[in-house]
Amino acid sequence: MRAYQFDAFGLENLRLVTRDAPQPGPGQVAVNVQALSLNYRDLLVVTGAYNPKLKRPATPISDGAGVVSAVGPGVTRVRVGERIVSHFIADWLDGPFRQEYVASTLGTPGAGLAAEQVLLPAEAVLPLPAGYDFAQAATLPIAALTAWSALVTVGNVQPGQTVLTLGTGGVAIFTLQLAKKLGARVIITSSSDEKLARARQLGADHTINYQTTPDWDAAVLEHTGGVGVDLTVETAGPGTLDRSMKATRAAGTVALLGALTGRQGLVTTGLILMKRLHVVGIMVDSRAAFEALSRFLGEHRIEPVIDRRFSFDELPAALRFMQEGQHFGKIVVTV
Ligand SMILES: NC(=O)c1ccc[n+]([C@@H]2O[C@H](COP(=O)([O-])OP(=O)(O)OC[C@H]3O[C@@H](n4cnc5c(N)ncnc54)[C@H](OP(=O)(O)O)[C@@H]3O)[C@@H](O)[C@H]2O)c1
Repeated sequence: MRAYQFDAFGLENLRLVTRDAPQPGPGQVAVNVQALSLNYRDLLVVTGAYNPKLKRPATPISDGAGVVSAVGPGVTRVRVGERIVSHFIADWLDGPFRQEYVASTLGTPGAGLAAEQVLLPAEAVLPLPAGYDFAQAATLPIAALTAWSALVTVGNVQPGQTVLTLGTGGVAIFTLQLAKKLGARVIITSSSDEKLARARQLGADHTINYQTTPDWDAAVLEHTGGVGVDLTVETAGPGTLDRSMKATRAAGTVALLGALTGRQGLVTTGLILMKRLHVVGIMVDSRAAFEALSRFLGEHRIEPVIDRRFSFDELPAALRFMQEGQHFGKIVVTV
């Protein structure tokens, strides 16, 4: 079977190799991968920005869906032939987050899914949501669950509340779709008027071009009667955090999850205390949250926005496409 690996960092070093089909050990399942989706994290992993000390050769890609082809000794949770989607933080099944769970994340340090067959922990797979195909399901484990984590687990968004999200990437577009189904008003920003028009078609109530309106936080305040939004889903990080906090109402929540502008920066802490803001870090969510999300998606018939599909041979090109930032929503690779 074919798998991708990189011996040195850089998209140019990502290559297809042939390996023996893996045999599941105790507690594992073998999966015939049918579809992958890309996350910004995958790009950081391959280019070395995510973990410069990563052991190589490594196989990247965190999210995928496929068919269980074999189960290891002791596995009763999943059966051969089941159509499944991967759960990103493999060891986080339920309950509060614990630091050691980070070591179990798929797509390094856990198993990378960029292969025709992979071994996954039997606990780290879920059935496809009702009505979903493999490509649609593959978009969910990181992007949709992170949006859910911000909106539901942390934000507890109620009908009539207002949510702000930044950009039109995978997490932001799921935030828009889920927030609308939760009954919230949504304000979304983008560098592109064309993408903002697409966001309005998906139900965005107000759209702001953050390039032509650099003080977009003031525009958010205008759209909320000077009060600010109840929840900001912060996808961009230190470069936008101050404006996000200014755009959030007093005692509101900023769900901080993104690193598009880096992982370090100056923060006006006075804003946090004077507004009694809840600035909460997000690290995707548990399998129990994924199960709740899956039910919600099936009930509300939310169709993931897939901007472009690539073939397995084109994975490096798909990652380059993501790097260019022209996409709207998710990028899928069919295997
Ligand atoms: N903590 C977690 O659990 C978690 C989970 C998932 C993702 N993340 C992080 O969240 C971020 C988004 O992930 P993703 O997969 O959705 O990425 P993505 O699909 O690559 O989204 C990128 C989009 O973000 C927008 N953007 C870029 N710079 C921006 C800026 N300065 N201000 C506002 N928007 C900006 C752009 O949208 P426009 O083209 O519309 O301008 C760009 O197309 C990444 O940093 C990722 O690592 C974290």
